[in-house]
Amino acid sequence: MKASENILVIHTDRQSCQMILDTVSQMGHAPSCAHTLSEGLQKITSGAFALVFLEARLPDGSGVEGIAKIKVNEFSPEIVITTTQGSPDEAEQAIANGAWDYIAAPVSPALIQLHIDQILDYRSEKGLRRSSLLLDRREIIGNSKPLAASLGLLAQAAQSDVNVILTGETGTGKELFAKAIHANSLRSQGSFVVVDCTALPETLVESVLFGHARGSFTGAYASQDGLIKQADKGTLFLDEIGELPLAMQKSFLRVIQEHRFRPVGGGREVTSDFRLVVATHRDLDLMVRQGKFREDLLFRLRSLVIKLPPLRERRDDIKDLILHYMDQLYQRFRLAPKQYSSDFWNVAGQYPWPGNIRELIQALEKTLLSAGEESVIHSKHLPTHIRIQVARDRVQSPAKDPEAPAAQLPAPATPLSLKEFHRTAVSAAEKQYFKELMDFTAGDIADACRVSSLSRSRLYALLQKYQLLPGQKSH
Ligand SMILES: Nc1ncnc2c1ncn2[C@@H]1O[C@H](COP(=O)(O)OP(=O)(O)OP(=O)(O)O)[C@@H](O)[C@H]1O
Ligand SMILES: [Mg+2]
Repeated sequence: MKASENILVIHTDRQSCQMILDTVSQMGHAPSCAHTLSEGLQKITSGAFALVFLEARLPDGSGVEGIAKIKVNEFSPEIVITTTQGSPDEAEQAIANGAWDYIAAPVSPALIQLHIDQILDYRSEKGLRRSSLLLDRREIIGNSKPLAASLGLLAQAAQSDVNVILTGETGTGKELFAKAIHANSLRSQGSFVVVDCTALPETLVESVLFGHARGSFTGAYASQDGLIKQADKGTLFLDEIGELPLAMQKSFLRVIQEHRFRPVGGGREVTSDFRLVVATHRDLDLMVRQGKFREDLLFRLRSLVIKLPPLRERRDDIKDLILHYMDQLYQRFRLAPKQYSSDFWNVAGQYPWPGNIRELIQALEKTLLSAGEESVIHSKHLPTHIRIQVARDRVQSPAKDPEAPAAQLPAPATPLSLKEFHRTAVSAAEKQYFKELMDFTAGDIADACRVSSLSRSRLYALLQKYQLLPGQKSH
């Protein structure tokens, strides 16, 4: 019996779509469907698909032109274009763009089955099988769909030797995933070397990474291997790569391309056979546009991108995480396990957890401390700021969709004048803008002035208005 694979059908016509979906499930695979190109692309970024049946003409764009967005590297799903009105030119373009095949009506179940068999055989021979079931998940807790998609990509990363970028907000598990990629890879016997790019001392960056020869600078009494050499036969994890100084990005690009470099003050070049995994919470594409990150380096890194979802987008995992970490705490403090009240689950489930899992773990320690001897944990034991936030959110927008983006248009109980509506909507959007600006520039006012093109005094005034100045508490 072959392993079950995820297969996506992107088709406008519901009947044709259903026929392919039925064939997929009869063969024991897991079908998904989308009716527009944008819906399909979104599903692809959040799911590990082996194959996509893509209709040539979709309401929001051409499937044939969409191929390049899907087939980014060998791990990307294979694509079969389906069409009701085939044309030779279109067939040529589809194949040239990287599709596996182009099939015109009538598209029968037998033809679909044939393609599925051929493609999955090919992928399994090339070792591109989805094997998240075989993955040693280590400490990675959770069974939500978004996490399962990230685990599927983790399995792909572990099976190969390509460069990987892990992105995601703070505390979403980037380092945990990097370690799991290493532990599940053929390099697991080698070292896992972490380079924290935020902590590289400016004057010693090169010697820390590349090593140095004896006597190459004052204090260099003996020659020493750099971190890159230490990662030989193992994995080199560059954490917060967005902080790597531009000058270093250039030297580093050469190291990635050639796996060879010269230690500081050393004559001979050194080689290192490392596998590269990097992480960042920054938007590297934006940094490239701003001239802060080298485009050629990003291009090299981008073979496989794993975006870790924030906890608020996978609330189904909150309970599992709490139970797991509470058990750890009971063991650590030699306590008998406690029970949990329903209001505790409600508050923990509603809070947005901006610091993600790291924040959750810290909150649980405090909760346990405040519960003391009590045998049941209630919401009142959670840290006060969490309870306040949840209470405020409940009053402000009782029916608010927890998945909704932060910048919301005002939904007034009574209709507003258009002018009033404008004012409120602009304020909400501006506040969001300044929040992101301050996050992006890490609170650096000079940087924020440059990015926003505002004068210092105007920026201060607006930050004050929205209570975003350092030390001001914003709600
Ligand atoms: N899915 C998960 N299951 C269990 N624990 C997790 C999970 N994801 C993260 N954690 C835990 O949360 C904490 C933060 O994770 P990690 O350090 O990997 O995050 P990060 O994305 O690197 O954060 P930062 O950007 O702040 O460095 C760690 O203690 C980690 O073990
Ligand atoms: Mg980290």
